[in-house]
Amino acid sequence: MNPNLDLLQPYPFEKLNALKAGITPPSQLSAISLSIGEPKHETPAFVVDALVKSLRHLSTYPNTKGIPELRTAISNWAIKRFHLSALDIETEIIPVNGTREALFAFVQAVINPSSSAKPLVLMPNPFYQIYEGAAYLAGAEPCFMNCTEQNHFLPDLDAVPEHIWQRCQLLFVCSPGNPTGAVCDSAYFKKLIALSDQYHFIIASDECYSELYFDENKPPVGLLQACGELGRHDYRNCVVFHSLSKRSNLPGMRSGFVAGNAEILEKFLLYRTYHGCAMPVQHQYASAVAWQDEQHVKHNRDLYRAKYTAVVDILKPVLNVEIPPASFYLWPEVPLNTKIKNECDFTRELFAQQNVTVLPGSYLSRTANGMNPGINRIRMALVAHVDECTEAAQRIKRFIEST
Ligand SMILES: Cc1ncc(COP(=O)(O)O)c(C=O)c1O
Repeated sequence: MNPNLDLLQPYPFEKLNALKAGITPPSQLSAISLSIGEPKHETPAFVVDALVKSLRHLSTYPNTKGIPELRTAISNWAIKRFHLSALDIETEIIPVNGTREALFAFVQAVINPSSSAKPLVLMPNPFYQIYEGAAYLAGAEPCFMNCTEQNHFLPDLDAVPEHIWQRCQLLFVCSPGNPTGAVCDSAYFKKLIALSDQYHFIIASDECYSELYFDENKPPVGLLQACGELGRHDYRNCVVFHSLSKRSNLPGMRSGFVAGNAEILEKFLLYRTYHGCAMPVQHQYASAVAWQDEQHVKHNRDLYRAKYTAVVDILKPVLNVEIPPASFYLWPEVPLNTKIKNECDFTRELFAQQNVTVLPGSYLSRTANGMNPGINRIRMALVAHVDECTEAAQRIKRFIEST
Protein backbone atom coordinates (compact mmCIF):
# COMPACT_ATOMS: atom_id res chain seq x y z
CA MET A 1 0.00 0.00 0.00
CA ASN A 2 1.01 3.62 -0.45
CA PRO A 3 2.72 4.53 2.86
CA ASN A 4 1.53 8.13 2.53
CA LEU A 5 -2.00 6.88 3.28
CA ASP A 6 -0.89 6.44 6.89
CA LEU A 7 -0.30 10.20 7.10
CA LEU A 8 -3.98 11.01 6.50
CA GLN A 9 -5.94 12.16 9.53
CA PRO A 10 -9.55 11.10 10.12
CA TYR A 11 -11.95 13.61 8.59
CA PRO A 12 -13.26 16.25 11.11
CA PHE A 13 -16.74 14.71 11.09
CA GLU A 14 -15.40 11.29 12.10
CA LYS A 15 -13.70 12.95 15.08
CA LEU A 16 -16.97 14.74 15.85
CA ASN A 17 -18.95 11.47 15.79
CA ALA A 18 -16.44 9.97 18.22
CA LEU A 19 -16.76 13.02 20.51
CA LYS A 20 -20.57 12.68 20.57
CA ALA A 21 -20.61 8.89 20.92
CA GLY A 22 -22.62 7.55 23.88
CA ILE A 23 -24.34 10.87 24.62
CA THR A 24 -28.14 11.06 24.52
CA PRO A 25 -29.29 14.68 24.29
CA PRO A 26 -32.67 15.72 25.76
CA SER A 27 -35.38 14.19 23.56
CA GLN A 28 -37.73 17.18 23.97
CA LEU A 29 -35.24 19.36 22.05
CA SER A 30 -35.05 18.82 18.31
CA ALA A 31 -31.57 18.14 16.91
CA ILE A 32 -29.96 21.17 15.23
CA SER A 33 -26.73 20.74 13.28
CA LEU A 34 -24.43 23.70 12.66
CA SER A 35 -21.48 21.42 12.04
CA ILE A 36 -21.48 20.52 8.34
CA GLY A 37 -21.09 23.23 5.69
CA GLU A 38 -23.78 21.77 3.48
CA PRO A 39 -26.10 24.42 2.03
CA LYS A 40 -29.76 23.82 2.89
CA HIS A 41 -31.45 26.59 0.90
CA GLU A 42 -33.67 25.48 -1.93
CA THR A 43 -32.11 24.20 -5.15
CA PRO A 44 -33.12 26.59 -7.98
CA ALA A 45 -36.03 25.00 -9.91
CA PHE A 46 -34.75 26.22 -13.29
CA VAL A 47 -31.52 24.26 -12.75
CA VAL A 48 -33.48 21.11 -11.92
CA ASP A 49 -35.56 21.65 -15.10
CA ALA A 50 -32.40 22.00 -17.20
CA LEU A 51 -31.00 18.83 -15.65
CA VAL A 52 -34.17 16.84 -16.34
CA LYS A 53 -34.37 18.16 -19.91
CA SER A 54 -30.85 16.95 -20.66
CA LEU A 55 -31.14 13.46 -19.18
CA ARG A 56 -30.96 11.94 -22.66
CA HIS A 57 -27.20 12.55 -22.39
CA LEU A 58 -27.00 9.67 -19.92
CA SER A 59 -26.26 7.60 -23.00
CA THR A 60 -23.07 9.50 -23.87
CA TYR A 61 -19.60 9.55 -22.34
CA PRO A 62 -18.64 13.06 -21.24
CA ASN A 63 -15.51 14.74 -22.52
CA THR A 64 -13.04 15.86 -19.80
CA LYS A 65 -12.70 19.34 -21.29
CA GLY A 66 -16.46 19.90 -21.06
CA ILE A 67 -19.06 21.17 -23.50
CA PRO A 68 -18.46 24.62 -25.05
CA GLU A 69 -21.85 25.84 -23.73
CA LEU A 70 -20.66 25.36 -20.14
CA ARG A 71 -17.19 26.80 -20.70
CA THR A 72 -18.75 29.83 -22.39
CA ALA A 73 -21.18 30.37 -19.50
CA ILE A 74 -18.30 30.12 -17.02
CA SER A 75 -16.09 32.47 -19.02
CA ASN A 76 -18.87 35.08 -19.30
CA TRP A 77 -19.58 34.80 -15.57
CA ALA A 78 -15.94 35.09 -14.47
CA ILE A 79 -15.15 37.96 -16.87
CA LYS A 80 -18.08 39.97 -15.55
CA ARG A 81 -17.65 39.07 -11.89
CA PHE A 82 -13.88 39.67 -11.74
CA HIS A 83 -13.57 42.41 -14.40
CA LEU A 84 -11.26 40.29 -16.58
CA SER A 85 -10.32 41.28 -20.11
CA ALA A 86 -10.62 37.65 -21.28
CA LEU A 87 -10.79 34.03 -20.13
CA ASP A 88 -10.25 31.67 -23.04
CA ILE A 89 -12.79 28.85 -23.15
CA GLU A 90 -10.32 26.61 -25.03
CA THR A 91 -7.32 26.85 -22.74
CA GLU A 92 -8.11 28.66 -19.49
CA ILE A 93 -11.17 26.83 -18.07
CA ILE A 94 -11.85 23.22 -17.03
CA PRO A 95 -15.20 22.12 -15.54
CA VAL A 96 -14.77 19.87 -12.49
CA ASN A 97 -17.00 17.64 -10.37
CA GLY A 98 -17.04 20.05 -7.44
CA THR A 99 -13.92 21.75 -6.16
CA ARG A 100 -13.13 19.03 -3.62
CA GLU A 101 -12.02 16.50 -6.22
CA ALA A 102 -10.36 19.24 -8.26
CA LEU A 103 -8.33 20.58 -5.33
CA PHE A 104 -7.15 17.07 -4.59
CA ALA A 105 -6.38 16.17 -8.21
CA PHE A 106 -4.61 19.47 -8.87
CA VAL A 107 -2.00 18.78 -6.21
CA GLN A 108 -1.30 15.34 -7.72
CA ALA A 109 -0.79 16.96 -11.12
CA VAL A 110 1.49 19.86 -10.15
CA ILE A 111 3.78 18.55 -7.40
CA ASN A 112 7.21 17.32 -8.43
CA PRO A 113 8.01 14.77 -5.69
CA SER A 114 11.51 14.13 -7.04
CA SER A 115 12.82 17.67 -6.55
CA SER A 116 16.09 17.82 -4.59
CA ALA A 117 14.40 19.21 -1.45
CA LYS A 118 11.15 17.67 -0.20
CA PRO A 119 8.40 19.81 -1.77
CA LEU A 120 6.18 21.93 0.45
CA VAL A 121 2.53 22.83 -0.02
CA LEU A 122 1.77 25.98 1.97
CA MET A 123 -1.76 26.38 3.31
CA PRO A 124 -3.75 28.42 5.80
CA ASN A 125 -4.28 27.01 9.29
CA PRO A 126 -7.22 26.33 10.01
CA PHE A 127 -7.93 24.88 6.58
CA TYR A 128 -10.07 22.67 4.38
CA GLN A 129 -8.69 19.22 5.08
CA ILE A 130 -8.40 18.17 1.43
CA TYR A 131 -5.35 20.48 1.03
CA GLU A 132 -3.40 18.51 3.63
CA GLY A 133 -4.35 15.02 2.42
CA ALA A 134 -3.68 15.96 -1.20
CA ALA A 135 -0.22 17.25 -0.26
CA TYR A 136 0.70 14.05 1.58
CA LEU A 137 -0.55 11.79 -1.21
CA ALA A 138 1.40 13.78 -3.81
CA GLY A 139 4.61 13.12 -1.84
CA ALA A 140 4.83 16.67 -0.47
CA GLU A 141 4.74 18.04 3.05
CA PRO A 142 2.00 20.43 4.19
CA CYS A 143 3.28 23.65 5.73
CA PHE A 144 0.75 25.51 7.86
CA MET A 145 0.44 29.30 8.01
CA ASN A 146 -1.45 30.33 11.13
CA CYS A 147 -4.53 32.51 10.72
CA THR A 148 -5.21 34.31 13.99
CA GLU A 149 -7.23 37.28 15.12
CA GLN A 150 -3.97 39.29 15.29
CA ASN A 151 -3.34 38.80 11.57
CA HIS A 152 -7.05 39.27 10.66
CA PHE A 153 -7.35 35.52 10.00
CA LEU A 154 -5.09 35.66 6.93
CA PRO A 155 -1.64 34.04 6.74
CA ASP A 156 1.12 36.51 7.54
CA LEU A 157 3.24 36.23 4.39
CA ASP A 158 6.06 38.25 5.96
CA ALA A 159 6.39 35.63 8.71
CA VAL A 160 7.24 32.82 6.25
CA PRO A 161 11.00 32.25 6.32
CA GLU A 162 13.15 32.21 3.18
CA HIS A 163 13.99 28.48 3.43
CA ILE A 164 10.26 27.64 3.40
CA TRP A 165 9.59 29.79 0.32
CA GLN A 166 12.48 28.06 -1.44
CA ARG A 167 10.85 24.64 -1.01
CA CYS A 168 7.32 25.85 -1.77
CA GLN A 169 5.91 24.33 -4.97
CA LEU A 170 2.26 25.15 -4.35
CA LEU A 171 0.43 27.56 -2.07
CA PHE A 172 -3.26 27.32 -1.17
CA VAL A 173 -5.16 30.44 -0.36
CA CYS A 174 -8.82 30.21 0.67
CA SER A 175 -10.73 33.44 0.19
CA PRO A 176 -13.35 33.81 1.57
CA GLY A 177 -11.92 31.48 4.16
CA ASN A 178 -13.42 28.36 5.64
CA PRO A 179 -13.86 28.56 8.66
CA THR A 180 -12.93 32.19 9.31
CA GLY A 181 -14.79 34.02 6.54
CA ALA A 182 -11.74 36.28 6.09
CA VAL A 183 -11.22 37.76 2.63
CA CYS A 184 -7.93 38.60 0.87
CA ASP A 185 -7.88 42.04 -0.71
CA SER A 186 -6.27 42.88 -4.02
CA ALA A 187 -2.99 44.02 -2.39
CA TYR A 188 -2.70 40.68 -0.58
CA PHE A 189 -3.17 38.73 -3.81
CA LYS A 190 -0.63 40.96 -5.58
CA LYS A 191 1.92 40.33 -2.86
CA LEU A 192 1.35 36.58 -3.24
CA ILE A 193 1.76 36.85 -7.01
CA ALA A 194 5.08 38.68 -6.56
CA LEU A 195 6.25 35.93 -4.19
CA SER A 196 5.22 33.25 -6.70
CA ASP A 197 7.41 34.95 -9.31
CA GLN A 198 10.32 35.24 -6.90
CA TYR A 199 10.18 31.64 -5.66
CA HIS A 200 8.53 29.89 -8.64
CA PHE A 201 5.48 28.32 -7.08
CA ILE A 202 1.88 27.94 -8.16
CA ILE A 203 -0.98 29.69 -6.32
CA ALA A 204 -4.22 27.70 -5.98
CA SER A 205 -6.94 30.08 -4.85
CA ASP A 206 -9.98 28.29 -3.43
CA GLU A 207 -12.78 30.80 -3.97
CA CYS A 208 -15.79 28.53 -3.53
CA TYR A 209 -17.44 30.93 -1.03
CA SER A 210 -16.83 34.02 -3.20
CA GLU A 211 -20.52 34.67 -3.87
CA LEU A 212 -21.68 34.54 -0.23
CA TYR A 213 -20.69 38.02 0.91
CA PHE A 214 -22.37 40.20 3.49
CA ASP A 215 -22.13 43.67 1.91
CA GLU A 216 -23.90 43.67 -1.46
CA ASN A 217 -21.55 46.46 -2.60
CA LYS A 218 -18.37 44.63 -1.69
CA PRO A 219 -17.99 41.35 -3.56
CA PRO A 220 -14.67 39.71 -2.64
CA VAL A 221 -11.80 40.23 -5.07
CA GLY A 222 -10.42 37.08 -6.74
CA LEU A 223 -6.89 36.02 -7.67
CA LEU A 224 -7.55 36.34 -11.41
CA GLN A 225 -8.94 39.82 -10.80
CA ALA A 226 -5.67 40.80 -9.12
CA CYS A 227 -3.80 39.38 -12.15
CA GLY A 228 -6.00 41.49 -14.43
CA GLU A 229 -5.24 44.62 -12.42
CA LEU A 230 -1.52 43.86 -12.82
CA GLY A 231 -1.88 43.41 -16.59
CA ARG A 232 -0.88 39.79 -16.08
CA HIS A 233 -3.28 38.52 -18.70
CA ASP A 234 -1.68 35.07 -18.99
CA TYR A 235 -2.49 34.49 -15.26
CA ARG A 236 1.05 33.10 -14.85
CA ASN A 237 1.37 30.80 -11.77
CA CYS A 238 -2.29 31.36 -10.92
CA VAL A 239 -5.29 29.04 -10.79
CA VAL A 240 -8.69 29.57 -9.12
CA PHE A 241 -11.36 27.09 -7.97
CA HIS A 242 -15.07 27.97 -8.07
CA SER A 243 -18.14 25.95 -7.23
CA LEU A 244 -21.91 25.92 -7.65
CA SER A 245 -22.31 24.09 -4.33
CA LYS A 246 -22.52 27.15 -2.10
CA ARG A 247 -23.34 29.82 -4.72
CA SER A 248 -26.36 27.99 -6.09
CA ASN A 249 -27.24 25.46 -3.36
CA LEU A 250 -26.20 22.56 -5.55
CA PRO A 251 -23.81 20.50 -3.41
CA GLY A 252 -25.31 17.30 -4.80
CA MET A 253 -24.65 18.20 -8.43
CA ARG A 254 -20.89 18.21 -7.93
CA SER A 255 -20.15 21.10 -10.22
CA GLY A 256 -17.42 23.70 -10.29
CA PHE A 257 -14.56 24.89 -12.45
CA VAL A 258 -10.87 25.56 -12.42
CA ALA A 259 -9.57 28.57 -14.36
CA GLY A 260 -6.27 30.30 -14.88
CA ASN A 261 -2.94 29.89 -16.59
CA ALA A 262 -3.17 27.91 -19.84
CA GLU A 263 0.14 26.07 -19.46
CA ILE A 264 -0.81 24.76 -16.03
CA LEU A 265 -4.32 23.83 -17.16
CA GLU A 266 -3.03 22.00 -20.24
CA LYS A 267 -1.13 19.62 -17.97
CA PHE A 268 -4.01 19.42 -15.51
CA LEU A 269 -6.38 18.47 -18.33
CA LEU A 270 -3.98 15.73 -19.41
CA TYR A 271 -3.90 14.44 -15.82
CA ARG A 272 -7.70 14.54 -15.58
CA THR A 273 -8.14 12.62 -18.82
CA TYR A 274 -6.38 9.68 -17.16
CA HIS A 275 -7.97 10.26 -13.77
CA GLY A 276 -11.37 9.83 -15.41
CA CYS A 277 -13.29 12.64 -13.77
CA ALA A 278 -15.28 14.23 -16.59
CA MET A 279 -18.52 15.92 -15.51
CA PRO A 280 -21.67 14.10 -16.75
CA VAL A 281 -23.08 15.98 -19.76
CA GLN A 282 -26.52 16.55 -18.19
CA HIS A 283 -24.82 18.17 -15.19
CA GLN A 284 -22.87 20.39 -17.56
CA TYR A 285 -26.05 21.69 -19.22
CA ALA A 286 -27.67 22.31 -15.83
CA SER A 287 -24.49 24.05 -14.61
CA ALA A 288 -24.42 26.32 -17.65
CA VAL A 289 -27.84 27.75 -16.77
CA ALA A 290 -26.86 28.16 -13.10
CA TRP A 291 -23.78 30.25 -14.01
CA GLN A 292 -25.98 32.47 -16.18
CA ASP A 293 -28.32 33.56 -13.41
CA GLU A 294 -27.53 35.96 -10.56
CA GLN A 295 -31.00 36.45 -9.14
CA HIS A 296 -31.01 33.22 -7.16
CA VAL A 297 -27.52 33.98 -5.84
CA LYS A 298 -28.59 37.40 -4.61
CA HIS A 299 -31.59 35.78 -2.90
CA ASN A 300 -29.19 33.29 -1.30
CA ARG A 301 -27.07 36.14 0.07
CA ASP A 302 -30.21 37.82 1.46
CA LEU A 303 -31.04 34.63 3.37
CA TYR A 304 -27.51 34.30 4.83
CA ARG A 305 -27.46 37.99 5.73
CA ALA A 306 -30.71 37.63 7.69
CA LYS A 307 -29.31 34.59 9.53
CA TYR A 308 -26.00 36.25 10.38
CA THR A 309 -27.77 39.31 11.74
CA ALA A 310 -30.28 37.34 13.82
CA VAL A 311 -27.73 34.86 15.24
CA VAL A 312 -25.04 37.42 16.07
CA ASP A 313 -27.63 39.67 17.77
CA ILE A 314 -28.55 36.79 20.09
CA LEU A 315 -24.99 35.61 20.74
CA LYS A 316 -23.22 38.95 21.11
CA PRO A 317 -23.99 39.32 24.85
CA VAL A 318 -22.37 35.94 25.65
CA LEU A 319 -19.78 35.37 22.89
CA ASN A 320 -17.11 37.47 21.26
CA VAL A 321 -18.58 36.93 17.79
CA GLU A 322 -18.38 39.06 14.64
CA ILE A 323 -20.09 38.77 11.26
CA PRO A 324 -17.30 37.99 8.78
CA PRO A 325 -17.17 39.71 5.37
CA ALA A 326 -18.16 36.47 3.59
CA SER A 327 -18.93 32.69 3.79
CA PHE A 328 -21.66 31.18 5.98
CA TYR A 329 -19.56 30.45 9.05
CA LEU A 330 -19.00 31.92 12.49
CA TRP A 331 -15.66 31.20 14.19
CA PRO A 332 -16.01 32.41 17.79
CA GLU A 333 -13.80 31.80 20.77
CA VAL A 334 -15.72 29.92 23.47
CA PRO A 335 -15.84 30.98 27.13
CA LEU A 336 -13.97 28.54 29.40
CA ASN A 337 -14.49 27.67 33.05
CA THR A 338 -13.77 24.81 35.44
CA LYS A 339 -16.24 22.49 33.64
CA ILE A 340 -15.64 23.64 30.05
CA LYS A 341 -11.88 23.56 29.62
CA ASN A 342 -11.64 23.64 25.84
CA GLU A 343 -13.60 23.68 22.56
CA CYS A 344 -14.18 19.90 22.64
CA ASP A 345 -15.77 20.10 26.12
CA PHE A 346 -17.91 22.98 24.85
CA THR A 347 -19.06 21.01 21.79
CA ARG A 348 -19.80 17.82 23.77
CA GLU A 349 -21.68 19.57 26.59
CA LEU A 350 -23.63 21.79 24.20
CA PHE A 351 -24.79 18.65 22.40
CA ALA A 352 -25.54 16.85 25.67
CA GLN A 353 -27.57 19.70 27.15
CA GLN A 354 -29.09 21.48 24.12
CA ASN A 355 -28.96 19.00 21.21
CA VAL A 356 -27.05 21.51 19.08
CA THR A 357 -23.98 20.30 17.17
CA VAL A 358 -21.06 22.59 16.31
CA LEU A 359 -17.53 21.67 15.21
CA PRO A 360 -14.50 22.05 17.48
CA GLY A 361 -12.04 24.44 15.84
CA SER A 362 -9.10 22.17 16.56
CA TYR A 363 -10.59 19.55 14.19
CA LEU A 364 -9.86 22.01 11.37
CA SER A 365 -6.35 23.06 12.39
CA ARG A 366 -2.90 21.77 13.36
CA THR A 367 -0.23 22.92 15.75
CA ALA A 368 2.34 25.00 13.87
CA ASN A 369 5.05 27.30 15.18
CA GLY A 370 4.10 26.40 18.73
CA MET A 371 0.41 27.26 18.55
CA ASN A 372 -2.86 25.88 17.27
CA PRO A 373 -5.25 28.58 15.99
CA GLY A 374 -8.32 26.33 16.30
CA ILE A 375 -7.92 25.78 20.03
CA ASN A 376 -10.79 27.24 22.09
CA ARG A 377 -12.76 28.10 18.95
CA ILE A 378 -15.77 26.47 17.33
CA ARG A 379 -17.10 26.61 13.81
CA MET A 380 -20.80 27.23 13.32
CA ALA A 381 -22.24 26.79 9.81
CA LEU A 382 -25.39 28.87 9.37
CA VAL A 383 -26.82 26.56 6.75
CA ALA A 384 -30.15 25.62 8.31
CA HIS A 385 -33.35 27.67 8.00
CA VAL A 386 -33.35 31.04 9.79
CA ASP A 387 -35.79 29.77 12.47
CA GLU A 388 -33.55 26.83 13.24
CA CYS A 389 -30.40 28.98 13.31
CA THR A 390 -32.12 31.43 15.66
CA GLU A 391 -33.32 28.61 17.90
CA ALA A 392 -29.77 27.19 17.94
CA ALA A 393 -28.35 30.60 18.90
CA GLN A 394 -30.86 30.89 21.75
CA ARG A 395 -29.93 27.45 23.03
CA ILE A 396 -26.20 28.27 22.82
CA LYS A 397 -26.83 31.46 24.78
CA ARG A 398 -28.80 29.54 27.41
CA PHE A 399 -26.02 26.94 27.59
CA ILE A 400 -23.30 29.54 28.11
CA GLU A 401 -25.34 31.37 30.73
CA SER A 402 -25.94 28.14 32.64
CA THR A 403 -22.36 26.83 32.72
C1 LIG B 1 -12.94 25.72 1.52
C2 LIG B 1 -13.66 24.69 0.73
N1 LIG B 1 -13.19 24.38 -0.47
C3 LIG B 1 -13.81 23.45 -1.24
C4 LIG B 1 -14.95 22.81 -0.80
C5 LIG B 1 -15.58 21.76 -1.68
O1 LIG B 1 -16.76 22.17 -2.23
P1 LIG B 1 -17.39 21.46 -3.49
O2 LIG B 1 -16.63 20.21 -3.75
O3 LIG B 1 -18.80 21.18 -3.13
O4 LIG B 1 -17.25 22.42 -4.64
C6 LIG B 1 -15.49 23.11 0.45
C7 LIG B 1 -16.69 22.42 0.93
O5 LIG B 1 -17.17 22.56 2.01
C8 LIG B 1 -14.82 24.09 1.23
O6 LIG B 1 -15.29 24.44 2.44
